[in-house]
Amino acid sequence: MLTLLTLRIFLMAVAAAGGPPPAPAVWIGTAWYPEQWPEARWDQDLRLMKAAGINVVRVGEFAWSRMEPREGKLDLDWLDRAIAAAARHGIATIIGTPTAAPPVWLTSKYPDTLRTKEDLRRAEHGNRQQFRFTSARYRQLARRIAEGLARRFGNHPNVVAWQIDNEIGAISVDEDTHGQFAAWLARRYRTVDALNAAWSTTYWSQTYQTFRQVPIPESPGEHHPSLKLAFKRFVTDVWVDYVANQTGAIRKASRAPITTNFMGWYDAFDHYPVSAGIDVASWDSYWPQAPMTAAAGLYHDVVRGFKRAPFWVMETQPGTVNGAPINSGLRKGEVRTMAWQAIGHGANMVNYWQWRGAPAGQEQYHGTLVGPDGNPRPVYEEIAQIGREVALADEALRDTVVSADVALVHSFESRWAVRWQKHHRDFDPVAHLRSYADELRRLVVALDVVPTDAPFDGYRVAVAPALNVIDDRTAQQLRAWVEAGGHLVLGARSGMKDAENALHAPLPPGPLAEALGAHVDEYYALAQPTPVAGKFGAGTANVWAERLVVDDPSTVEVLMRWGAANGWLDGKPAVVTRPLGRGRITYVGAWLDAQTTASVLRWALDGAKVARPFGTLPASLEVNRRIRPGAITYVLINHGDAAVTLKLPQRMNDVLRGRPGVSTVDLGARDVAVMSQ
Ligand code: GLA
Repeated sequence: MLTLLTLRIFLMAVAAAGGPPPAPAVWIGTAWYPEQWPEARWDQDLRLMKAAGINVVRVGEFAWSRMEPREGKLDLDWLDRAIAAAARHGIATIIGTPTAAPPVWLTSKYPDTLRTKEDLRRAEHGNRQQFRFTSARYRQLARRIAEGLARRFGNHPNVVAWQIDNEIGAISVDEDTHGQFAAWLARRYRTVDALNAAWSTTYWSQTYQTFRQVPIPESPGEHHPSLKLAFKRFVTDVWVDYVANQTGAIRKASRAPITTNFMGWYDAFDHYPVSAGIDVASWDSYWPQAPMTAAAGLYHDVVRGFKRAPFWVMETQPGTVNGAPINSGLRKGEVRTMAWQAIGHGANMVNYWQWRGAPAGQEQYHGTLVGPDGNPRPVYEEIAQIGREVALADEALRDTVVSADVALVHSFESRWAVRWQKHHRDFDPVAHLRSYADELRRLVVALDVVPTDAPFDGYRVAVAPALNVIDDRTAQQLRAWVEAGGHLVLGARSGMKDAENALHAPLPPGPLAEALGAHVDEYYALAQPTPVAGKFGAGTANVWAERLVVDDPSTVEVLMRWGAANGWLDGKPAVVTRPLGRGRITYVGAWLDAQTTASVLRWALDGAKVARPFGTLPASLEVNRRIRPGAITYVLINHGDAAVTLKLPQRMNDVLRGRPGVSTVDLGARDVAVMSQ
């Protein structure tokens, strides 16, 4: 596994070998498809890239038919020339393995490599992601092309990273996959009886006699929640293995870091185990419609949390996308705020998709830096400005990382469990997570989003909204951290389910109820806003309410109680807290309005002595902090349409405007400042 330091040493070695210029603190890049253009055009494109401050290109991820035009016959000379051309312009290269788009000779000769879609139809050529993720034959063919690329370019001084496939996720529901799922179930449960017991299959006569009888729960309708969770775990393991097949081939010949590009909030598999097999987490960050908001930055924190390390934005939009219902794109200035938002949240690469659109094909309307005429489009200048600014801020950003006192606990398993049994149409687990995250980000300059098994030692406060699935190990770990001094804030629906997505017998928060000294004895989906009042004033809950029971009145404090509601809730506790060891555990049994959520969080942060150097920010303003020993860099972003003057907690240097020792900073509409301290 590459640490940041080994990554830098590697990149320095690359530079020493006469490749691209030394690695910048933050790469600015673009997806480039040299195979789509005459070679005579490459130099002009690369010149224009360089002039925009672009120092890395990602190539190859859809070029299998050019790399291996006939089975087993590799033609990589053109790619070699493209990488060399980029190097001549001081631009480094990331090679994408082309396995998201198999060539037609492959799928015609080996139709068993095509996936069966959820509608039970077999995928066809003419699109991408048509491969079958479980296919042993596809693994062999994918490994061969990855090996071919690695053998040829593994030691290339200009190849600074690898990307496996592209936006993995499409599954297959074919017979072979079904067999593999059955084998997976046999490995996990050992006996069918054990599976039947874990899933309570006497319900609806679902009792199985063999593992092969367990269906693939491919359709979005009703399926047993334990089966659905098991299938997601199987799918996750397949992707871990799929990625490892190619990383194994590349690592034999290359020391360059390997990534695979994820998609925002995509939950088709658990991203934490997949991230464990790559060196750097990356994602494709798209925001189809203006305005850009501070809240848009949350997924960067999620991706940073995949490896708890700096990450890359492997794709982002030069203005507009083409897949949304209305592709209105970003307003002038928002491509810049979007780039700086990524950097502020810890990205060390911002890569534009794409340089120039293919004249034909599915994505003709998508934003690009140059048009079909080969000349810069209006957004090019804004990206060139980003390039200049990132170069100016290089020293301030170099080796800095985001480091937070506060963690937001994020679990794919809990997201699935809630989404599959929402109980209230509007209980969207991501929206619920956001209801806490958005308020937290107005209070703190950095927020880590981490999985349940992360080391929590460095955090003062951990907030776990709707952590529905809590197994005994997680409960023990969280409890130990609380006893050592942490403050755990559990949100509604937490601790209801066990590792099989079955109900815990102890009432929620299940294995943490004893630590809390209280439990939930009933939950209610709310058809209308419901009043709640107490320490944080008078507020309302929407969507969800829980009735709490205090088990240990001598230590548990009731912070909020329900007002007049459905009779059951009236006057009952809604939010409780209890000191435990050197720490504290709090349970919020409601989806609270934004203001009350903010009050709860402010109370938790202040009680845990979390520094809040900028106080409470207005929603349009964003402050991000990156640090290294002896240096702090703030990335300030005004997403609003009105100019603001921000008072700084102490004198700082305005890096982009070259003004040392200022105590206030003016931010225009949709504007950015980088301040070093
Ligand atoms: C995804 C893909 C790219 C491209 C973009 C368009 O992120 O990875 O190949 O299709 O979407 O927004």
